[in-house]
Amino acid sequence: MPLPIRIAPSILSADFGRLAEEVRAVEAAGADVVHVDVMDGRFVPNITIGPMVVEAVRRVTKLPIDAHLMIVEPERYVEAFAKAGADLVSVHAEVSPHLHRTLQAIRAAGARPAVALNPSTPLSAVEWVLGDCEMVLLMTVNPGFGGQRYVEACTQKIRRLREMADARGQALEIEVDGGIKADTVGEAAGAGANVFVAGTAVFGAKDYAAAISTLRHHARESRGVLV
Ligand code: DX5
Ligand code: ZN
Repeated sequence: MPLPIRIAPSILSADFGRLAEEVRAVEAAGADVVHVDVMDGRFVPNITIGPMVVEAVRRVTKLPIDAHLMIVEPERYVEAFAKAGADLVSVHAEVSPHLHRTLQAIRAAGARPAVALNPSTPLSAVEWVLGDCEMVLLMTVNPGFGGQRYVEACTQKIRRLREMADARGQALEIEVDGGIKADTVGEAAGAGANVFVAGTAVFGAKDYAAAISTLRHHARESRGVLV
């Protein structure tokens, strides 16, 4: 059974002044997950939002919330994000020296744990904690901003991670994040990703439903599933 394809609009590209409306709009348009980008101005150059905004998003949608923590010392905040209503919390391996412990802390706080890797970070960074992860998020751009170009080398990385998971017999969810659009989603899906974050490709479109169904269509098509 192939893992389900999930389209996860990133609110980073939403109109923050109308955030509740934007979240409701992507839910109505067929999104599977709401992706929330948390940036601290230290791990990445940009600063975005904290647990209070997750709480606000939680109040307006039934969709799972995926909190992507691009922050140093993420272990200090994982519980706050889980309590604010994040269903899944991902932390970057680059800033988590005690990754195993942090993943346990996420689970203990009631959320699903995930690890995120920058494009240049080797897969060996997650090798020994794969069994503790519900998902691995592979950055397909350097984190910090929306609207960047997909880093081609990441396609092979997705393939290798899928092979690593298959070799363990693990139905690992692989999320790709950055530069995912109609012309790159198929490549990532064909390599083995099943969760697709899309900021610009959804919130930059006039018709959110059409944008989401185009992404889903190309992802399915590249896996050889007829739609
Ligand atoms: C980048 C964020 C992404 C971002 C993707 O650091 O992690 O989630 O919103 O934006 P697009 O889809 O525009 O590349
Ligand atoms: Zn993200």
